[in-house]
Amino acid sequence: MQLSGSVALVTGASAGIGAAVADRLAARGAHVLVHGRDAERTRAVAAHVHGTAILGDLADPAGRHAVVEHALAARGRVDILVANAGAGWSGPLPDMSVAHVRSLLELDLVASIELTHALVPAMVHRGHGAVCFVSSIAGRTGVAGEAVYSAAKAGVDVFAESLRAETAGTGVSVGVVVPGAVDTGFFDHRGRRYDRAFPAPVPPDRVADAIVRVVEGGRAEEWVPRWLRLAPAVRALAPGPYRYLATRFGEPVRIRSRGDGGGRDGADAQ
Ligand SMILES: NC(=O)c1ccc[n+]([C@@H]2O[C@H](COP(=O)([O-])OP(=O)(O)OC[C@H]3O[C@@H](n4cnc5c(N)ncnc54)[C@H](OP(=O)(O)O)[C@@H]3O)[C@@H](O)[C@H]2O)c1
Repeated sequence: MQLSGSVALVTGASAGIGAAVADRLAARGAHVLVHGRDAERTRAVAAHVHGTAILGDLADPAGRHAVVEHALAARGRVDILVANAGAGWSGPLPDMSVAHVRSLLELDLVASIELTHALVPAMVHRGHGAVCFVSSIAGRTGVAGEAVYSAAKAGVDVFAESLRAETAGTGVSVGVVVPGAVDTGFFDHRGRRYDRAFPAPVPPDRVADAIVRVVEGGRAEEWVPRWLRLAPAVRALAPGPYRYLATRFGEPVRIRSRGDGGGRDGADAQ
């Protein structure tokens, strides 16, 4: 995929990984449609990369529709979609409200599918384009305390894999980047800090470089850091020992007996 002269929509580019990707793509000559929710930060990144700010809440169907409309109106087309916007949530499943379960799935899974659904047909029609999803190690292994987030990211992964096969031979490439912990505001936003000594969070620039490799080279997947791919490989080869070690040394979040028969319907515990 030729980046120079292309039009790239990067969702969640008002901060963290997305802002770093916007910077990388603009430096290689792409016009970047910088998507975010926070108007001030989104416009600041857009100004920095000489791109166009696109505002909208991707957890909301109307917001997703508006983002697609504005993105297409800005330059008449989108050649590259980096579906990066996302949020986490950490805690025992019953402490998460049903409303929050739904909005997290809307943002982390449905938005990626709907934006792809809206933008890929025109890429195929033009005979070139690229889509890169930002997945997570959580979606490859599962993580205690992140059951819904992990499910959403696993969904993104198999969606990407399926779509990559569907677009084969069309000139449109589809790939994923699978990060471990990344040093962004993600953990503060999800309500629980990353407090593990290992693996150490990587800078967002490293994930941005991997996204550029996927987009530019049409690669199917990139892991950041690369050795992380060992985790699902070990789980596949030795599932019993892997699960024992994950329970013993992984996230210590556990569902406790509440005696009230179910999870929360109202506001979240955190
Ligand atoms: N950080 C990590 O350790 C890590 C690890 C694996 C995967 N990831 C994935 O990497 C991606 C980027 O995360 P990050 O680390 O860069 O986090 P971040 O710094 O918190 O940035 C998240 C971005 O998503 C946007 N966003 C959040 N909720 C949104 C909503 N409802 N509608 C539209 N946009 C929304 C934010 O926009 P506003 O700020 O403008 O609201 C922001 O631009 C996510 O998909 C995340 O799951 C992160």
